[in-house]
Amino acid sequence: MRLLRHVADLRLALAAATDTALVATMGNLHAGHLSLVELAGRHGRPVLTSIFVNPLQFGADEDFDRYPRSLEADCRLLQAAGCDLVFAPTVQEMYPEPQTYAVLPPLADTLCGAFRPGHFAGVCTVVLKLFNLARPRYAVFGKKDYQQLFLLKGMVRQFNLPIVMLEGETGREPDGLALSSRNAYLSATQRAQAPQLHATLRALRQRLLAGERDYTRLETEASEALSRQGWRVDYVALRSQRNLLPPAPEEKDLVVLAAAHLGRTRLIDNLELSLPVCGRAPRV
Ligand code: PAF
Repeated sequence: MRLLRHVADLRLALAAATDTALVATMGNLHAGHLSLVELAGRHGRPVLTSIFVNPLQFGADEDFDRYPRSLEADCRLLQAAGCDLVFAPTVQEMYPEPQTYAVLPPLADTLCGAFRPGHFAGVCTVVLKLFNLARPRYAVFGKKDYQQLFLLKGMVRQFNLPIVMLEGETGREPDGLALSSRNAYLSATQRAQAPQLHATLRALRQRLLAGERDYTRLETEASEALSRQGWRVDYVALRSQRNLLPPAPEEKDLVVLAAAHLGRTRLIDNLELSLPVCGRAPRV
């Protein structure tokens, strides 16, 4: 496995590659990332993992400075997971002045985007740059960042990028907590409390599968349940998988998404579900 720090080295390393599989990360890797690397390796070679804490996607009051950086440990994990190339550029290397941003559809200002203005423009900008630099045939993103994945797939479609988008399932701790680099911020007490987010989404899903259809009420009650347990809730939202908008009554393929804070740490999670079509067993 080779570690590349410069755009010129990346271009050279990939000059003859036609089947590159890219996994874009911000480092501080955990088992969830490694499963994306393995998924990438089942589709293309070389497997390229980028490690770049992207300043463009952090708000002024967010955790850019304290975001954990652990390049050496990350490289050891990546080597063991079968990664071929690591691209870990500096901010100066990635963002020569003047800055140009991707412009996103209004959906980017809803859900997480409503609480993190400009976040998804920062994500799509850096991912578009990585796509242009690496020209991958495959790119892997996790479903944990559901809205991010949705917007990135839209960008690929809209800009006719010749990239196959692969989706990795969310890795979870045995107690249900979704794997995230930000879990490292949690105190022992908060870590014990953190699975409540997933449990709340599961409870909401159960109520839907049991036949409840007052979506606003379900969202409000789930949000209130988290607040009562000490979370500061950004949102709990039920959306259509198709367009991430509030679902029309006939819509069957849904996703419940949530973002909430424990202390200074913001966690997100989501669960897909399909409502039963009359006469068929529910798919969960
Ligand atoms: O999901 C992430 O870790 C980041 O948003 C990404 C896709 C690597 C862009 O910086």
